Amino acid sequence: MRFEYCVQTAPRGLADAFILGESFIGNDSCALVLGDNIFYGQSFTRTLRNAREKIEQESGAVIFGYYVKDPTQYGVVEFSSDGKVTGIEEKPAVPKSHYAVPGLYFYDNSVCKIAKNVKPSARGEIEITSVNNAYLTEKKLSVELLGRGMAWLDTGSYDGLLEASNFVATIQKRQGYYVSCIEEIAYRNGWITKESLLECAKGYKTDYGTYLKFIAENS
Ligand code: G1P
Repeated sequence: MRFEYCVQTAPRGLADAFILGESFIGNDSCALVLGDNIFYGQSFTRTLRNAREKIEQESGAVIFGYYVKDPTQYGVVEFSSDGKVTGIEEKPAVPKSHYAVPGLYFYDNSVCKIAKNVKPSARGEIEITSVNNAYLTEKKLSVELLGRGMAWLDTGSYDGLLEASNFVATIQKRQGYYVSCIEEIAYRNGWITKESLLECAKGYKTDYGTYLKFIAENS
């Protein structure tokens, strides 16, 4: 894999990713995931594949909705009485539902043009919520609800980071399997060989290396 980075020098908002990243996106459809969001749950890979396929086949945007007790710090989905999405509000003081929008978004190529037309919000940012509402106006927004069996955690605060750390530690200790170990994922998908996994293991003088060796020798 090859990674490219682009630095946002001022906090201009999430939608700025599509302005800064326009030449990187080129003629492709794309996805945006916020680095402080953590997703964990059975069949999540299928959920991601479905979203990508939907964009490739039908264009438009796919975002997600996740039930939380207090959604006031998030984008919040508003539904009509028959369950249709009628709008998304950014950090509403009085939320119209409990469904928050996680930081994971799939868009067709028109997202770059849409982002350029977004006006800054009261906090001076070009909001991803405005981008999503623009797709909604065009009847091109699909909001997929994630079930309560999925964990969506936000590590954007000290408390949130500690809660996510405890969650991951609990799962890992119980199962003995790591959550989202990229070398393991690559190996299980057949993208790297057993030999290269063992080679990766040698690069760590920690439990992480012991784990990679365990995976290579036992899967
Ligand atoms: C951002 C988005 C918000 C979304 C949240 C998810 O909020 O603006 O719509 O629900 O990420 O983490 P921010 O992190 O900018 O407060």
